[in-house]
Amino acid sequence: MKSGLIPAGCLLAAIGAVSPVTAADLTLSCGAVGAELQLCQAGVKRWEAQTGHSVEVVSTPNSATERLSLYQQILNARSSDIDVFQIDVVWPGMLAPHLIDLNEHLPDGATDDFFEAIVDNNTVDGRLVAMPWFTDAGVLYYRSDLLDKYDLEVPTTWEGLTEAAQTVQAGEREAGRSDFWGYVFQGRAYEGLTVNALEWIASYPDGGTIVDDDGDITVNNAQAVEALSLAAGWIDNISPRGVLNYTEEEARGVFQSGNALFMRNWPYAWDLVQSEQSGIRDRVEVAPLPAGGEDGQSAGVLGGWNLAVSRYSDHPDMAADLVAFLTSFDEQKRRAIEGSYNPTLPALYQDDEVLAAVPFFGTLYDTFTSAVPRPAAVTGDNYPRVSNAFFNTVHEVLSGNVSAEQGLEQLDRELSRLKRRRW
Ligand code: GLC
Repeated sequence: MKSGLIPAGCLLAAIGAVSPVTAADLTLSCGAVGAELQLCQAGVKRWEAQTGHSVEVVSTPNSATERLSLYQQILNARSSDIDVFQIDVVWPGMLAPHLIDLNEHLPDGATDDFFEAIVDNNTVDGRLVAMPWFTDAGVLYYRSDLLDKYDLEVPTTWEGLTEAAQTVQAGEREAGRSDFWGYVFQGRAYEGLTVNALEWIASYPDGGTIVDDDGDITVNNAQAVEALSLAAGWIDNISPRGVLNYTEEEARGVFQSGNALFMRNWPYAWDLVQSEQSGIRDRVEVAPLPAGGEDGQSAGVLGGWNLAVSRYSDHPDMAADLVAFLTSFDEQKRRAIEGSYNPTLPALYQDDEVLAAVPFFGTLYDTFTSAVPRPAAVTGDNYPRVSNAFFNTVHEVLSGNVSAEQGLEQLDRELSRLKRRRW
């Protein structure tokens, strides 16, 4: 029986996650977005069969923001109840003090075949605090049948997306489909909105990335105003007002039931929209996100999840072995084919079976390798505050409560105050 200062079961139950503490050898927290939990459980079963150990898989909230606060509660309590954490690509710096150095528990060269940028991202003061599990970048899903029907090209600018969405939405509504919308994305006030809005802003020339690599606040600029004003105009026009409460799965729900022309989402949605149960199977394609105007460039934001071992784990070696197994070539290949999760091993982007299952892993390879990072490294422990301030501002602008100009001016002041305290 595992023991800790605070039983994880209580904390998890308190926020609605599933899982009592059991007598398993290890506990692993996994995401549950789409088919993520089942894929995680299947991987764990293989490791159990190979080693004879037992693992309890704990599911976590879909919102990355809620997941972080759950993890912070558990780790700040120094609880040993969760051994292995699935952590977001923007968290290693912040959570590093609570995580073991995997270099000390894995064989030499354990990270050799992985994308170097992600290994660097997960290395904090020379300590490897997480192994790359899957990477992510924002992409545009579109209904190829409907673009054909209206004789439209795949849009390459946000302005073009807006126009195409208006045309198709108007046409479909005239044909009696009153629930049909042009564009769905992640507009709830959470980490996903930070990602979406950064993708709009960074796609304009000199739109910037909220805070630049030197730590200077850049978000209050004319291109950012343009980007957010355009997006605010989508609400009730090409996007339902409900999008202000959408995470990834709500957007997918609307798109997959055939009620939207475009969707911004991560690659995991591919396997699901192309599944046999999907109403739009074989009528969907994936493209890079649009650019901000003719002089801009597509700016899919870098996402992804890593596996880390808690410093408070009673079984760090066993936990590190589970991490090595789950991030191995075979497991990543299985997850790519069965769930369209982007491998963190470059070799798998040349694997015929992977490319047959997810063709855009080949065609959009550059989108994945040159994705735009959020300003997590430079703002360190302050990143969640920076992101919260940003997504709250964007949410207010999208809701029509404040103009993009006013919102970004206030945000600039708020971020300056945060910066004065430290980063
Ligand atoms: C995806 C990304 C992650 C991001 C989150 C936001 O899970 O992989 O990096 O923070 O979406 O919703």
